[in-house]
Amino acid sequence: MGQFGKVTKAVIPAAGLGTRFLPATKATPKEMLPVVDKPAIQYVVEEAVAANIHDILLITSRNKGSLEDHFDRGPELEQRLADRGETQKLATVSDLVDLANFHYVRQHEPKGLGHAVLTARSHVGDAPFIVMLGDDLIDEATPVLGEMLNVQEEFGGSVLLLMEVPDDSIHLYGCAAVEPTHNPHVVRVTGLIEKPEPGTAPSNYAVIGRYVLSPEIFNVLQGQEPGRGGEIQLTDALATLVDRPAEHGGGVHAVIFKGKRYDTGDKLSYIKSVLELALQRDDLGPALKSWLRTLPLEDS
Ligand code: UTP
Repeated sequence: MGQFGKVTKAVIPAAGLGTRFLPATKATPKEMLPVVDKPAIQYVVEEAVAANIHDILLITSRNKGSLEDHFDRGPELEQRLADRGETQKLATVSDLVDLANFHYVRQHEPKGLGHAVLTARSHVGDAPFIVMLGDDLIDEATPVLGEMLNVQEEFGGSVLLLMEVPDDSIHLYGCAAVEPTHNPHVVRVTGLIEKPEPGTAPSNYAVIGRYVLSPEIFNVLQGQEPGRGGEIQLTDALATLVDRPAEHGGGVHAVIFKGKRYDTGDKLSYIKSVLELALQRDDLGPALKSWLRTLPLEDS
């Protein structure tokens, strides 16, 4: 049992094609792209572990072998570092294996995030579980997973994480219509729409990549038709749960995220994330800052 009750498992879907990041993601999973000196997915695994979740299921596909290798032993490398007495470097690689209990399942075709989540069914079983997207990083200074687990304990059903975004970018996200609850930190979700057409969004609340889901989501996904982009959308399945009574696994609530998030899924956001995180580092920040100041930034 985790510190937050019955939720003990996190699922990290990493079987997408990463088309916004081609050609880098042709043979390398986008979740393995380095963010300063760690692959993006390592931040996400560390976030789960910080919330006392140690059972991690990675959903992978062809060309994703490096994901499994990253969390496995590297005997030759470890021996070489040990022989050289490079103990700090050695710890950065050998500690990864014991970070969590890693499990893997394959999604044979990239039919969408909802379809990827469905492949987790037999591992997850009949308890609520976490889904974390590997290209959404939450700053460790503003953790939120523990709060989401507490909300799931209090309200049951499923819990989303929402972030207020400007009018001109809500069409890039799943969008939630909400109403207040007795708890000022929690809203009830009354409707959900995946990537609304500009001007039609019911709010500025974007769904970001952390979910605590009722296992009822699997029954919904099982019978669900493809939605936007021809993909089985997780947002559509959640929209069904919004209308379903609590005794049948329905009910969707959300925490409004006020912390810091880094998006690493497209090129510009990725570059910004790497720079921001590197600037915070004692070993890299000062030198990077002085170098950035020397760049010719005026429009030519
Ligand atoms: P994204 O839409 O952000 O990822 O899906 P993508 O499809 O890989 O990227 P683009 O849009 O083509 O650039 C969100 C998450 O869901 C996973 C992705 O790996 C990503 O972490 N996903 C998506 C799957 O696991 N399977 C899928 O079929 C689709």
